[in-house]
Amino acid sequence: MGRPKGAHTRTTWLEDGRWTLWQCMRVLRIFTLPQLRAVTGCSAHNAKRYVRCLEQAGYVRRLRERQRGVAGSHTVFALIEDTGPVAPRGQTDGKRLFVHYCATCHGDAGQGDGQNAYNLDPPPPDFHESLKVHQPSYWRQIIEGGSVAVGRSPQCPPWGRTLASSDLDALVAYLEVLANPSPAQK
Ligand code: HEC
Repeated sequence: MGRPKGAHTRTTWLEDGRWTLWQCMRVLRIFTLPQLRAVTGCSAHNAKRYVRCLEQAGYVRRLRERQRGVAGSHTVFALIEDTGPVAPRGQTDGKRLFVHYCATCHGDAGQGDGQNAYNLDPPPPDFHESLKVHQPSYWRQIIEGGSVAVGRSPQCPPWGRTLASSDLDALVAYLEVLANPSPAQK
């Protein structure tokens, strides 16, 4: 499933209410745009744009088209059932988790320059270099049990009790993106 272009960059996801919209869709399951707006207070523009993104990415489908010329008729959308417990899966979700839980030390782009990095010994490595050395299974061990789990310092905290296993997978997937940036991201 591809990432919808502009679907949830860090700022849009958190700031224009997409997170709220997503949570609302999970509860409603079947909804129209006016319903989403009534519950979330999001602007018509943002709600429409986000639903369109999710539709293109295959998270949402149309159950019934709006009947033209019929007052109060709206397109009915349905959230596809297996989209997971918290948020859309994959890179976008991993990025959101990374920014939330990891960036204070690792930096937004994983370059080891988070605001907390300078207090740490050893400091967080630059992922663009360090992630080439080991396999994703090794990163997962660190994310789950902390850097101490692989015999390194205790500086990278364990997340296995805080985050769901699917979140750990999403983070590993996102680290793979950081480790292999596409030419545009370099
Ligand atoms: C409190 C600061 C801090 C936070 C928060 C933190 N880390 Fe770390 N992380 C570190 C430090 C420091 C190291 C280097 C530890 C060492 O080499 O002993 C590290 C190392 C790592 C490594 C090993 C990289 C390599 O190949 O060398 C991975 C993977 C990693 N962190 C992932 C994460 C993820 C994912 C999160 C968020 C869920 C996270 N870290 C949150 C400080 C942090």
